[in-house]
Amino acid sequence: MSLVANSDTFVIDPWDGEVVWDFSRAQNLNLKGVINTHSHHDHIRGNDFLKDRGVPIVKSCPFMTTLQLPGHTMDHVGFELKDDNKTHLFVGDTLFQAGVGNCKGGGEPAELFQTVQTLLKNYAHQETILYPGHDYLKKNLEFSQYVEPSNQEVREALKGLDPHKSFEASPPLLSEELKLNPFLRLHSTDLRQRLLSIRSELAKLTLSDEIVFKTLRLIRDEF
Ligand SMILES: [Fe+2]
Repeated sequence: MSLVANSDTFVIDPWDGEVVWDFSRAQNLNLKGVINTHSHHDHIRGNDFLKDRGVPIVKSCPFMTTLQLPGHTMDHVGFELKDDNKTHLFVGDTLFQAGVGNCKGGGEPAELFQTVQTLLKNYAHQETILYPGHDYLKKNLEFSQYVEPSNQEVREALKGLDPHKSFEASPPLLSEELKLNPFLRLHSTDLRQRLLSIRSELAKLTLSDEIVFKTLRLIRDEF
């Protein structure tokens, strides 16, 4: 859940509508609408509470760009907010810290692969801050280490994990994610070698980026 405000305020994916409502009133925020990245229950749970108090559920926000991000679900969207020299990306369950969303609830790994490639192409070269829908950092880093054991950055990140630190307080930079997230490291030789040792049947295939991505998703589903 995120609150985005300039003169008007929008809430993205409210979990607890009452918390949002009370906070907005206490801060004198002009709560103009609720927007959702996708329709999974844990992203729309607070919608009704806010709707009942006159806050409309809307499809877009006037100061953010809506992005089509199919993959976790086929109707998944994200929102881009441009600051002076930064880009803020509200990515829902598309990208997490050191991972990506699963495709078990109506998604499609091949679509998710394409979406992640598009995000990299459009945002990896600029300062981009990610706002994922959940914090699965510890488990995701453990998976990163499993599939790319030689990755020193992952080892350091796991060592430095602070269980008391909320990820909302320091949302991840896409540039940092490139070092930690195996789904963004499809060209890593070590990662590819490791996948071949975990799934020997891959040896028969030409390992395209898409196959590496989909294999990672498959192994992560069982991890
Ligand atoms: Fe979801």
